[in-house]
Amino acid sequence: MPDPQLVLAARVQAALSAAFGPSYADADPVIRPSQFADLQANVALPLAKRLGRKPRDVADEIAARLDTADVIANVEVSGPGFLNLTLSDAWIAGEAQNALEDARLGIPETAAPQRVVVEYSSPNVAKEMHVGHLRTTIVGDAIARILGFLGHEVVRDNHVGDWGTPFGMLIEHLLDLGEDAAARDDSSVSDLTAFYQAARQKFDADEAFADRSRRRVVALQAGDPETLRLWQILVDVSKRYFNLVYRQLGVTLTDDDIKGESFYNDMLAPTVRELEDKGIAVVSEGALCAFPPGFTGREGEPLPMIIRKSDGGYNYSTTDLATIRYRVDTERVDRMVYVVGAPQALHFQMVFAVARMAGWLSDDVQAEHAKIGNVLGTDGKILKTRAGGTVKLAELLEEAVERAGAVFDEIQRDEPLDDATRAAIVRDVGIGAVKYADLSVALDSEYVFDFDRMITFNGKTGPYLQYAAARIRSIFRKGGLAPEDAAGPIVLTEPAERALALQLLGFGSVLEQAAAAAEPHKLATYVYAVADAYTTFHENCPVLKAPDEAARASRLALCAVTLRTLETGLHLLGVPTPERM
Ligand code: ARG
Repeated sequence: MPDPQLVLAARVQAALSAAFGPSYADADPVIRPSQFADLQANVALPLAKRLGRKPRDVADEIAARLDTADVIANVEVSGPGFLNLTLSDAWIAGEAQNALEDARLGIPETAAPQRVVVEYSSPNVAKEMHVGHLRTTIVGDAIARILGFLGHEVVRDNHVGDWGTPFGMLIEHLLDLGEDAAARDDSSVSDLTAFYQAARQKFDADEAFADRSRRRVVALQAGDPETLRLWQILVDVSKRYFNLVYRQLGVTLTDDDIKGESFYNDMLAPTVRELEDKGIAVVSEGALCAFPPGFTGREGEPLPMIIRKSDGGYNYSTTDLATIRYRVDTERVDRMVYVVGAPQALHFQMVFAVARMAGWLSDDVQAEHAKIGNVLGTDGKILKTRAGGTVKLAELLEEAVERAGAVFDEIQRDEPLDDATRAAIVRDVGIGAVKYADLSVALDSEYVFDFDRMITFNGKTGPYLQYAAARIRSIFRKGGLAPEDAAGPIVLTEPAERALALQLLGFGSVLEQAAAAAEPHKLATYVYAVADAYTTFHENCPVLKAPDEAARASRLALCAVTLRTLETGLHLLGVPTPERM
């Protein structure tokens, strides 16, 4: 599917080279949206300076050399030297027809496939997933889906926090409760927040318990089999809970994607040794530290990254360095996308810098932190429960589904839905609303979690988009035709038909941009623009009651491409699309 902007850019570049010589062949043609045409090329203005000529004359000359065949219907020089370009209706229709006839909507797989590790979700064992993990989970899943669709080899990686000093007290607390409490799924263990807090309280209040806990950490790190067995019980309880949330959300992560911090345990010592051998890690005040250049503290003093604490223990940074080394040496990835909260930005900058010093990261390997912004409550502060605790994800999602039910039941419907169908749709609407709201803002901006705003059928919301797709499906049902059987040919006569078809042609390049920048909100914005163009079309162009057979066939075909674009786009965002609503 050729992006009109790129097609016009190539044509204008050819004209530049024909008019002013081959050295102008890759000048930026400065193609922009236009108020008076489909697009405009503004290159004449900067070029005129360079050539020492009048911009309008330069524009006239480009226009004279422009090959318009098959693609461009009209060229006009306006203002100081803008080239207004109008695409040919037949070309737009032809490209929309190509999309209709292609299983991938005319979007090719990438010619340069990469192996990309997308690290996302990454909750902590024996702790409740909170709303911050909601974002890292949803955004990461969308990034993974988009990259996969474009033909990249995606390694999904859930870097679960499953190691470290808290596990001493957690294991001892489990022993106090009795292992069978976990086996019975007793709430003393399965309510993870309560379990963690109870362990913490004992640790702070009971010296003997704290001692046991510390000894337990040592046993864990030494690989004591009995301790590892107990640790595994905690990991399993947590995994069950994570999977519950993932299924609830329709996220593609499975147990196979988990490579928690514990996975790198045996690699920590060799990683540290290599840093010492290379002279990157040095002992400072008893701790082994690296000082990546350019990082300074308040007083301008070099900022250390601690790699081994003075008590000999490793920490979060050490694990992240071992992880990079593993991904580069063993997994041989070309790109790593870390979908993690924005507050960890400095941590990742320093980790990447040290990894570069060690030669693990080179120009061939791209590492990027997709910084996830905070989720705020309607009071503008970080989202908390009324009692001030962390909001449990599972409960938040259940509330979304419940509220979606109330909003959904207000829709006027010809035929009533049976309970099971209604429940399935309402679930999709509630979850889709939460996911789309999250994905439609830039991932690094904060947003206010507001059920009323996200669960509505009007505006830039998941339910609006789901409804647009369902409405198209209902046209096909009424017309007694399957969307796959719409064959066109697509002919564009009405402005709303043309605008819709033109919008559909942008899908491929939007996906590429979203993949390159790891920014799914670009896709979210695009899907909304398609639904909007469809709504205008729907209001102006009767489909089943089209004036003649040819218009009916063309409009059904446009509906079919729109439906597939919406469903594919929403699927890549991880937003479910119920067939009827
Ligand atoms: N478990 C961490 C948390 O909940 C996120 C892990 C991020 N990934 C990493 N490689 N450090 O904040």
